[in-house]
Amino acid sequence: MSYEAKFKVWRGDDGAGELTDYTVEVNEGEVVLDIIHRLQATQAPDLAVRWNCKAGKCGSCSAEINGMPRLMCMTRMSTFTEDETITVTPIQTFPVIRDLVTDVSYNYEKARQIPSFDPGEVKPGEFRMQQVDVERSQEFRKCIECFLCQNVCHVIRDHEENMPEYAGPRFLMRIAELEMHPADQADRRNIAQDDHGLGFCNITKCCTEVCPEHIKITDNALIPMKERVVGRKYDPVVWLGTKLGIV
Ligand code: SF4
Ligand code: F3S
Ligand code: FES
Repeated sequence: MSYEAKFKVWRGDDGAGELTDYTVEVNEGEVVLDIIHRLQATQAPDLAVRWNCKAGKCGSCSAEINGMPRLMCMTRMSTFTEDETITVTPIQTFPVIRDLVTDVSYNYEKARQIPSFDPGEVKPGEFRMQQVDVERSQEFRKCIECFLCQNVCHVIRDHEENMPEYAGPRFLMRIAELEMHPADQADRRNIAQDDHGLGFCNITKCCTEVCPEHIKITDNALIPMKERVVGRKYDPVVWLGTKLGIV
């Protein structure tokens, strides 16, 4: 069964923009990205949108749909009633390039700043991991880098000025993943706290709520990382070592 749906799509660039009204055909089983593609094909050939896999795996098609950060390719039109107006806007935290496409280079800069896996003297094949450690890493590595968690975290969404000091949930999770890896030799606690702003996170869990991979970012990465940082800070041996300048 087809019907005509009312859409408001944000059109503009880094200078200015506005919501533009469209009426578009919707067919059974379609997702929001199908409708955006139909809009491009029939009414707005210059509408800019980033997408790739249409299967919830490339992380490209992040947008805000009726104000909720979501993947356009994984948002079924059946989520909405036929008479509902559906508003599609670019993710708010990052600067707009054009229409629904934003500049997410902040995230790649943060990724580059995290020191990579440090195996120390251990050579490939010399180390065996427990299954529990493998599984812990695997949860974090389901990340598709859609940056919806980064978009929704109030620390940078409402305070752009925090961006230089704060890596955001996706990259604090990456630091936690490395810290919990039994073969990684680096001490990631100061890196998380001092270089990437772990202390800014006040556990609102909005990041976890929007993650399309259902990664428990807050409970399994951020809170354990905070506990490790606190453990170090209040460890009397570390305190004495710091005073003596040897830790
Ligand atoms: Fe997206 Fe989840 Fe990865 Fe954040 S952690 S970038 S929400 S997949
Ligand atoms: Fe932000 Fe998630 Fe912490 S939304 S405040 S990183 S729990
Ligand atoms: Fe790849 Fe949506 S197009 S996640």
